[in-house]
Amino acid sequence: MVSVLKIVKGCSSPELAVKISRFLNLELVDVEARQFPDGESYVRVDGSVGGEEVVLVHGLHPPQDRHLVQLMLTADCLRDLGASSVKAVIPYMAYARQDRRFKEGEAVSALAVLKVLKAAGVDAVITVNIHSPWIIDKSPVPVKNIDATGVLASYVLQAGVEKPLILSPGKKGVEMAAYAASVLETDYAHVESRRSLEDGRVSVSVDADVGGREVVLVDDVISTGETMAKCVEAVKRRGAVRVVVAAVHGLFVGSASERITAAGADLILTTDTVPNPYDVASVAGLVASQIG
Ligand code: R5P
Repeated sequence: MVSVLKIVKGCSSPELAVKISRFLNLELVDVEARQFPDGESYVRVDGSVGGEEVVLVHGLHPPQDRHLVQLMLTADCLRDLGASSVKAVIPYMAYARQDRRFKEGEAVSALAVLKVLKAAGVDAVITVNIHSPWIIDKSPVPVKNIDATGVLASYVLQAGVEKPLILSPGKKGVEMAAYAASVLETDYAHVESRRSLEDGRVSVSVDADVGGREVVLVDDVISTGETMAKCVEAVKRRGAVRVVVAAVHGLFVGSASERITAAGADLILTTDTVPNPYDVASVAGLVASQIG
C-alpha cells in the first residue's frame, strides 16, 4: 500500500494545523473533542488514516493537562486506526521546565511526558523553542526543536522599528538576542534577571545604555508576564523611547498582557505556537519545512 501524508487537526491547535496543511497542500483530518460531564476527555478521529503517515498538530499550552490527555488519546487512536506512523507537531511543549530533580523525590516531568507520548504511539516530535533543549538527548522519541527567533524578528522588522537595541532576560536569552539582532542588523545586550526561590518573584537589572533608543525585548515565553513587565519598567525608567515585547510562546496567564502594557510596552507580539491575541508571527512555514 502506498503511504500518504496527512495532517491531523489536533483539537488544541486547529488554526496552525490548517496553515501547515495549506503550506504543504496536504489533506486535513479532523478531530472531534469534547468533555464528558465528569471532566474526562473524549476524542474521535474523523477521517481515514489506515496505512497512512500522519502528522498530528497538537500544542500543549494551557490547559496543559487536558491537552496532554487529548494528545495521548488522539495519537493512540490514530495508531489503532492503522496509521503507519504518527509524527507529533507540538508547537508549545509543556512541562519542559521541570527538566531535572531539583528536590529529592520530584518527578522529572519533561521526560515523563516524552515517555508517555512514545507509549501512545508517537514516533517523532517536532517542537518550537523548547524550554530545556538539553532534555532532547535523553528523550525516548526523536525530538526536532525548531528555533522561531528569526520568524519573530522578521515580524518585529515589519512593525517598523529602526535599529533597535535587542535585550533578552536571563543567561539563556543572550543567544536569542544575538540571533534577533543579526536579523534586524542591530546590536544586542543582556538583562540580568533572577527569580527568587522563596517567593518566585522576579528581579531584573539593566546595564545597557537604552536612553533615547527603541528597545526590543525578546524571550522564549511569556507566562505570568512578570519578567517582561519588570524588563519594560526598567528600560523605560532608563529612557527607552519605544519598547516592543516579542516572545515565541505567549501563554499570557491571568492578566499578563495588561501587566506588560501597564508597565509601558508599546507593542506586544508573539508567534502562533500558542493561540493568543498577539500571535501575528506564524511558525507554519518553519514547521512545514520539517515535514516530509
Ligand atoms: C525563563 O527562563 C523564561 O525565559 C521566561 O523569562 C519566563 O519563563 C517568563 O515567565 P513569566 O512570564 O512568568 O515571568
